[in-house]
Amino acid sequence: MCGIVVAVAKNNVASVLLEGLSQLEYRGYDSAGIALMNGGFHRLRTTGRVAELNKIVNERKLQGKTGIAHTRWATHGEPSEHNAHPHFSGEASRIAVVHNGIIENYETLRQRLQAAGLKFISDTDTEVIAHLITFNLERTLDLFEAVRDSVTELQGVYAIAVMEEARSDRIVVFHNGTPLLLGLGTSGNYAASDASALIQVTKRMIYLKEGDLAELYCDSYRIVNCFNGSMSEVDRIVHESKLTTEDLGIGSYAHFMQKEIFEQPSVAANILEEIFNTNSASPQLFGDAAKHIFTQIDKVLILACGTSYHAGLVARHWLETVAKLTCNVEIASEYRYRNPVIQANTLVVGISQSGETADTLAALSYAKAFGHRYSLAICNVAESTLTRQTDLCFLTRAGPEIGVASTKAFTTQLTGLMLLAVVLGKLHGKLSNEDESKIIGALRHLPVSLNRVLRAESEIKVWAKKLSESQHILFLGRGIHYPIAMEGALKLKEISYIHAEAYAAGELKHGPLALIDKDMPVIVIAPNDELLAKIKSNLQEVRARGGKLYVLADNDSSVESSSGLEVIRLTEYAGLLSPILHTIPLQLLAYHIALIRNTDIDKPRNLAKSVTVE
Ligand code: AGP
Repeated sequence: MCGIVVAVAKNNVASVLLEGLSQLEYRGYDSAGIALMNGGFHRLRTTGRVAELNKIVNERKLQGKTGIAHTRWATHGEPSEHNAHPHFSGEASRIAVVHNGIIENYETLRQRLQAAGLKFISDTDTEVIAHLITFNLERTLDLFEAVRDSVTELQGVYAIAVMEEARSDRIVVFHNGTPLLLGLGTSGNYAASDASALIQVTKRMIYLKEGDLAELYCDSYRIVNCFNGSMSEVDRIVHESKLTTEDLGIGSYAHFMQKEIFEQPSVAANILEEIFNTNSASPQLFGDAAKHIFTQIDKVLILACGTSYHAGLVARHWLETVAKLTCNVEIASEYRYRNPVIQANTLVVGISQSGETADTLAALSYAKAFGHRYSLAICNVAESTLTRQTDLCFLTRAGPEIGVASTKAFTTQLTGLMLLAVVLGKLHGKLSNEDESKIIGALRHLPVSLNRVLRAESEIKVWAKKLSESQHILFLGRGIHYPIAMEGALKLKEISYIHAEAYAAGELKHGPLALIDKDMPVIVIAPNDELLAKIKSNLQEVRARGGKLYVLADNDSSVESSSGLEVIRLTEYAGLLSPILHTIPLQLLAYHIALIRNTDIDKPRNLAKSVTVE
């Protein structure tokens, strides 16, 4: 999604803005731009990468001590230079604007502004903001007030930064839903969509709250909140970010996705540190109020999108099996428009890597507005919007995930969700001490098992070669591994652009079996669980129709390679944790197929890391 970087400093900020943009590249974008103040606006925009923008900024020797920069992920209007940010208000503009999010009433506003004689150059909703602020600036003569008045008319979830030609010492920013934080430095002040863009200059960050309007000067700043009825200054806590430049580096890997796949044993160890010396999991892992809340609830509702939704689907099995609790898992973008039945004693769990996914945040607010009393975030980003909106929080501590395709975030979400099932099972009297310590023991062993599974990479590479020319691939799983098949198909689609679909293997005969022929490879997850015999029958159904089978099994699964059927054995059967282990080869497979197909693995086309618009 769009990324914003803003700087007002003592020295030239061009390189700070460009470095900030390159740190935000992982969010996904299709064009980039920058405007610097230096005796007037100097703006450059390109549909190329940030590196291309960097090159032209250097060629033209663009400089300025105040500037705004942006990566755009197109929503209104095609990716093109004229739609790229920063936007002006007409040719002789007094202001420059960058924007993340969507202005829902932009058409009405556009018509009104056009009727007032204003000309539009782009197809974006952002240009409406530029014109509206300029319009109000004529009256207020002060940018801060003009932005304050303008935002009362803008509907939607968004963040903006505005720079005024007449005041080169100041930038005004407004936060309403999509992420924006301030960075307080020693030789300047900054703002950005996330902390990774600013740690090059400061670790002191302020996470703005909904409705916060801030003005930044080189050595001071002021924040008011437009939604609290008073325009008096508000105090916001200054946080010390724990991010390091090392966290954001790629190390010796070719891609962030590859690095993040191989980090999984160590991030699993991070998360499990807290249970290392015990045989039980404490409710405290989820926050101070967890014990009280967990004993009140009698159901769980999980809301999430994409990969995080798949984690929720696995968790449903665990919550049913381990904690004997009813659990519903909903796609957040669907749930937010339903009329759910209120079940006050339901624990609503929002799962999100970024903690900024617009649909997940909206679904959670919707569930709360509907009367669901208790909420928990399973999230990878401390201080994200999600973690600030829930009663309880479990941080997955996977470190920054830069590759658009989620990998380590998923397996750490699963680890956290298993701990949740254990804690709830214990508190509700459904899990014996003995079973609890068995699960905890298996969890402690997880980093070792993950390392073993990663060793299957060379065999996976052989599969990748065979599968890289495929047009379509089918993924099959059953029970707790069906969501893993869904995750494998999603991973493959998003980075290799091969069409992939996942089916619960028992559903084959209800339709998809018609697709099977020699050109339809089928990847099957076949661990040694109670459904192995059923899966084996499904394998026969595919073989009988000429389908080529690629089977992921553990050491104990009694499936053998034969003509048209290739088996990769992973490690010993991991019981309830088996889905975590079977995810790894599917991540590796997607990665190696994408590598062969030479796609942009970390920044796949059309996708964004942090989906901050609906
Ligand atoms: C995963 O590979 C995807 N890029 C995507 O499905 C992602 O999981 C989804 O957008 C949800 O993001 P979140 O976890 O940050 O909320």
